[in-house]
Amino acid sequence: MLKVLCVVGARPNFMKVAPIVEAMKRRAGAFAPLVVHTGQHYDAQMSDHFFRDLGLSQPDVHLDVGSGTHAVQTALVMQRFEPVLVAEKPDWVLVVGDVNSTLACALVSAKLNVKVAHVEAGLRSRDRRMPEEINRLLTDQIADLLLTSSLDANENLRSEGIASEHICFVGNVMIDSLLAHLEQSKLSTVRGSLQVSDREYGVVTLHRPSNTDDRTTFLQIISALEQVSQRMPVIFPVHPRTRARISEFGLMERIARERNLRLIEPLGYLDFLHLYSGARLVLTDSGGIQEETTWLGIPCLTLRENTERPITVEMGTNLIVGTDAERITRAAFEILDAPPRNTTGRVPPLWDGRTADRILDALVAATHSTALIAPATC
Ligand code: UD1
Repeated sequence: MLKVLCVVGARPNFMKVAPIVEAMKRRAGAFAPLVVHTGQHYDAQMSDHFFRDLGLSQPDVHLDVGSGTHAVQTALVMQRFEPVLVAEKPDWVLVVGDVNSTLACALVSAKLNVKVAHVEAGLRSRDRRMPEEINRLLTDQIADLLLTSSLDANENLRSEGIASEHICFVGNVMIDSLLAHLEQSKLSTVRGSLQVSDREYGVVTLHRPSNTDDRTTFLQIISALEQVSQRMPVIFPVHPRTRARISEFGLMERIARERNLRLIEPLGYLDFLHLYSGARLVLTDSGGIQEETTWLGIPCLTLRENTERPITVEMGTNLIVGTDAERITRAAFEILDAPPRNTTGRVPPLWDGRTADRILDALVAATHSTALIAPATC
């Protein structure tokens, strides 16, 4: 029986951990999962609604760290996670993604000689100004098992000197959640209450400090959104930090004048899935949404200068357009001028809804094998 302490902290972690915990519960004779929530995200809209929508049971342990500077938040997670780890003595700590909680818990575990499995290892934007890139690089250096979602990640890890026997290509576990909830999401009333029709609206998400905290950059993006909203309704579920910047920069009135640029509260998993899966176009600076739109075959404009998920560009759904208003608008209009795409896009290998089970197999293999992973498994 493997005792696995699964860490969640921020919104993009919940849909990655939910299918893994569910798979462990199905294999209850072999796995005993414990969920630790660091509390990096704490609002009902950023956290609780995801537990409800994803059917994830309440966390076994809550560290309640809340917001803070990167140093404060990372340090507080470490400080509060250490006694939990000492008390629970798990066989593995499983961390996902690239948020501060990921690195903090990986670091505590490595120092206490508890094995770390990193889900979504090896993604690289090669932009070290991104806090997530630092979290990714450091977590991968100290993890014992690196579970990757695309083969470019294996290459990145090997080029950083990580031995192949620690790396296992398992596919994209977020797609497990997407597939498990796609039907159920159709019961959502969100499109109806926003009065938008299939493929006749755009969806925006924006939360990266590099986009929201710099007034000039933020204004470029808002200006592009205003122009796109002249062509179709643009629905913008607003992250708490972004909402704070909109007020701080005095942009509320200006945006309110744009009838078709509609700011709404952050949505839960099912409502958001229902919303973006019917969109004609998605504009985002998120990482996960680049992948979800790829699986669904929905055109996505990434409002950044780089991506750690190049496979989404390779598949043809994602275009990296940066933050210049004219460039974003031009790319959006090109998509709107073309006929809507067939929504069955090209899907990367192993984005098939069965990644959680492969993760469990890799954990078992890595526990029992001296070479960590049998090549046949990965
Ligand atoms: C974090 C992750 C980012 C991820 C994002 C998803 C890091 C470095 N960043 O960024 O990779 O894409 O989550 O949203 O870990 N706030 C609330 N309520 C909450 C949470 C946050 O109001 O429940 C506000 C706080 O004012 C906080 C700000 O949002 O200061 C930012 O939250 P924080 O956890 O620092 O990072 P995110 O920008 O959400």
